[in-house]
Amino acid sequence: MNNNWWKEGVVYQIYPRSYKDTTGNGLGDLEGIIQQLDYIQSLGVTMLWLCPIYESPNDDNGYDISDYRKISDEFGGNKSFDRLLAAMRERGLKLIMDLVVNHSSDEHHWFQQAKKSKDNPYHDYYIWRGNNPNEKPNNWQSVFNGSVWKWNEATQEHFLHLYTQKQPDLNWENPKVRKEVYAIVDFWLAKGVDGLRMDVISLISKRLAFEDVPNEMPFIDVMEKVYANGPRVHEFLKEMNREVLSNYDIVTVGEGPGVNLVHGPRYVSAREKELNMVFHFDHLTIDFGPDGKYDPVPLDFVRFKAIFRQWDEALANDGWNSIFLGNHDFSRIVSRFGNDGVYREQSAKLLVTLLMTLRGTPYVYQGDEIGMTNVAHSSIECYDDVETRNAWKAAEAAGKDMNKFLKAVHWQSRDNARTPMQWNASENAGFTTGKPWIPVNKNYPTINVETAEKEANSILHYYRKMIAFRKANTTLVYGDFVDLLPEHPQLYCYRRWDKEANFLLVHNFSDTPTSWEKPSGNYEFVFGNYSNEKQALLAPWESRIYRSV
Ligand code: GLC
Repeated sequence: MNNNWWKEGVVYQIYPRSYKDTTGNGLGDLEGIIQQLDYIQSLGVTMLWLCPIYESPNDDNGYDISDYRKISDEFGGNKSFDRLLAAMRERGLKLIMDLVVNHSSDEHHWFQQAKKSKDNPYHDYYIWRGNNPNEKPNNWQSVFNGSVWKWNEATQEHFLHLYTQKQPDLNWENPKVRKEVYAIVDFWLAKGVDGLRMDVISLISKRLAFEDVPNEMPFIDVMEKVYANGPRVHEFLKEMNREVLSNYDIVTVGEGPGVNLVHGPRYVSAREKELNMVFHFDHLTIDFGPDGKYDPVPLDFVRFKAIFRQWDEALANDGWNSIFLGNHDFSRIVSRFGNDGVYREQSAKLLVTLLMTLRGTPYVYQGDEIGMTNVAHSSIECYDDVETRNAWKAAEAAGKDMNKFLKAVHWQSRDNARTPMQWNASENAGFTTGKPWIPVNKNYPTINVETAEKEANSILHYYRKMIAFRKANTTLVYGDFVDLLPEHPQLYCYRRWDKEANFLLVHNFSDTPTSWEKPSGNYEFVFGNYSNEKQALLAPWESRIYRSV
């Protein structure tokens, strides 16, 4: 296994719309990120991943791009971007940009042309089927509800959109499309960008027969077997790697809906020369019920651990893992995997201890470092996210119990993670002087960066300590992993070791004090999230780090 800067580093993910507004228009901007670079650097993170900042009509908050070479004016335009990149360089921070090329915006000039006529040179940049406005080419459902097909009057056919109607899928079968994509990638890498997070990259190769999905198939399986991992996906990724990625010393992480243990290793195998890492969602779909995301079931902790164990095993000798518990598409980690009530502080600290001690590159999502929590608005009107809103409409149309559904929204909505960053206790959490594009979480007077800076035992200071500890101990990066109590219903206990050191970790994922027998060996307590480690019982949400002496 080769050593690498992107294996040894820690990523901080920013959702720029919600980070820091400097113009008073209620939207975060790049100038805001520049202003906070000292703060970001103080966390000890080494790479920043920015969610999309390109020109976009924002049907899906930037994941619908209308100009791939232009930074949106809302965010400060290309000039601000150049300033940000230079300021990051000065601090030795690396920049990872989002690359969204499974689909473009319908307002991109390619699509504007493509929809005009069948013989337009851009027509074949997208995917067209059928000739009857009243008959969809197949029964596929969009990730955001409704058919994946939309009728286009001018050419008398439907186009494919796996996401919203304003996100038409690009036709990767067309070599011209692939060339365009590689040129865009080259444009940003030549500017000095250090890495790419590739949006839903597992979906770029379509199964061209477009056969109906069996009615009873759960959506998770549809994703894996019908939409993702298509016949040419590995060929396309190898081509992109050969044509452009391999010319630069960069890091790549592919977002992989439908990528599980069967498919994952191939995407990231060093021999295959495709991607460095993927984001799989095995642990983040773990509480999806029979009706999917908005039908949540209790989390199976033993399975949760098994997922980490199996992925570690699968990538132990070839490839590399990404370690994350949330991002802009999921709820807040302390609310979902911890306890955001009485044990908010302890459980937030436990979760970062876990993130920093597993094998793989760890990702921290903005706000988690101060223990930001989910929101629970009483009305759907307070939600902005297109996925949440569409799911709501579909549930209403299906006659579902909407009180129950609202609870599911509180639990699962992507907006939980998109509320503005809480900087201080002043109005709007110091995020903006204007009206925030999305409501601020009401708990900002107590949960904010300024308050956390002043408290010696805050979650924020513990994040810094944990990130520094990770960076100082490459054993935690590269060392072997073994789960010592895979069947335990609330403890997560494992070892990480190599020639240099041997660490023992134990986390109590519960509200109850739990007994634990320390394995034999000369283990010395290093630190944990409680000050007193001598207790025979592990306190609620306690984490401890031991080292062999
Ligand atoms: C990815 C993004 C998500 C977006 C979707 C469509 O899953 O993370 O935010 O809605 O792709 O581009």
